[in-house]
Amino acid sequence: MSRAATLPRLIDGKATAARVLAEVSDEVADLRARGVQPGLAVVLVGSDPASQVYVRNKVLRAEETGIRSLEHKLPADTDEATLLALIEHLNASAEVNGILVQLPLPAHINEQRVLQAIDPLKDVDGFHSENVGGLSQGREVLTPCTPSGCLRLLQDTCGELRGKHAVVVGRSNIVGKPMAALLLQADCTVTVVHSRSQDLPALCRQADIVVAAVGKPRLIDANWLKPGAVVIDVGINRIDEDGRSKLVGDVDFDSALSLVSAITPVPGGVGPMTIAYLMKNTVAATRRQCLAARPAQP
Ligand code: GUN
Repeated sequence: MSRAATLPRLIDGKATAARVLAEVSDEVADLRARGVQPGLAVVLVGSDPASQVYVRNKVLRAEETGIRSLEHKLPADTDEATLLALIEHLNASAEVNGILVQLPLPAHINEQRVLQAIDPLKDVDGFHSENVGGLSQGREVLTPCTPSGCLRLLQDTCGELRGKHAVVVGRSNIVGKPMAALLLQADCTVTVVHSRSQDLPALCRQADIVVAAVGKPRLIDANWLKPGAVVIDVGINRIDEDGRSKLVGDVDFDSALSLVSAITPVPGGVGPMTIAYLMKNTVAATRRQCLAARPAQP
């Protein structure tokens, strides 16, 4: 085998996200030609700096792809009833096809009640129990953006996923659990491990595919990985090192690189895919709402 074939591949999330966004732009142009303008409402409560950056990027990407974005910024002391009333208004608005409430919400607001208030057909995060249940049953529903983006990176990197052993590190509702459901649907053998699992490194060493989503900087190093594994790092952790602030993943990138066949960098791996799949979900939601009842075009 040539040396080049044995070198680990950097999985370029930025480039893949650009391809997904180009697909979305084409789909939006097609919808607009039929007189349908997709609309995405993004709701931010409070002024958490990271959330502000995420929301700004979501709005920018929407505009770039031709999706109308409607931003709702509410003060941190907004009460739950006011937020629920806004969601009710957005559910009823014909201009809005997708609704995203940025998480986390302030502690005085019940997150679950808010997510359940969103019309499942407009739930572009895929967090409503109707969509969570649909995903676990293998129905065609709106699925969470980060795991959907990770799956696309894995499909592009590995080709066939059937029969591969995937270990998902982390069991959050946003990433770990839906990631496991998507991998199961792609015919992987799936193990979900978490902070209470025994001998995490030994469990991870069984994996052909590792998806790391725990929020612990550089937790996973080469000792946790099987040679040739494909690693998707969902972690975005800010740390101070050598007198400066930097972003690192849940995987110790430099250590893992000597062993893996492919790995996502942080930043520039999974992050851009989350936003690209939000746009894809917005188009899918618009199609279902606006075109389902129409006769096919001649
Ligand atoms: N906060 C962190 N990730 C997400 C996400 O995927 N969706 C929403 N709504 N909030 C988040």
